[in-house]
Amino acid sequence: MKRLILLASLLLMPLAHANDLYQQLGEKQGISAIVEEMLYRVGGDERIVHHFDGVDIVQVHELITEQVCDVVGGPCDYQGETMQAAHQGMGITHADFNALVEHLIIAMEKHDVPVAAQNRLLARLAPMYGDITEE
Ligand code: HEM
Repeated sequence: MKRLILLASLLLMPLAHANDLYQQLGEKQGISAIVEEMLYRVGGDERIVHHFDGVDIVQVHELITEQVCDVVGGPCDYQGETMQAAHQGMGITHADFNALVEHLIIAMEKHDVPVAAQNRLLARLAPMYGDITEE
């Protein structure tokens, strides 16, 4: 019996692991609050705020929340543009990208996201780097 329980928990472990990043970010509500904090900070960052001139920030907030929720395995289905289409022609540099990530990290800190979970989210966003930046 003990063996059976051990086997069952081993089999279920990857499932629990797949979901816990979503949980550690505070689920949809937490992700929404983190993205809001990040965008708020971006709004005060003169290195990158010009990129957002005339942008519908409420919509961008919704879309980034949806996308993050989706990439961390949450119950969301991101329906926005591809990262390449969304950022094409904006001339976003590596420094701009890093500046936004800086704000994301601070936002996650403020919402008590454990460092390991922060790193796991960053690792899921990292492959988008090449599609977003133009340098
Ligand atoms: C990991 C990094 C990033 C992610 C995950 C991300 C994600 C997104 C998403 C989901 C959208 C909405 C796409 C749509 O309209 O369907 C968007 C739009 C936008 N992003 Fe990013 N982005 C990132 C980095 C950046 C950076 C570094 C900048 C500039 C400094 C930036 C500036 C913008 C702007 C200005 C828009 C609005 C475009 C428009 O509505 O015309 N993004 N982003």
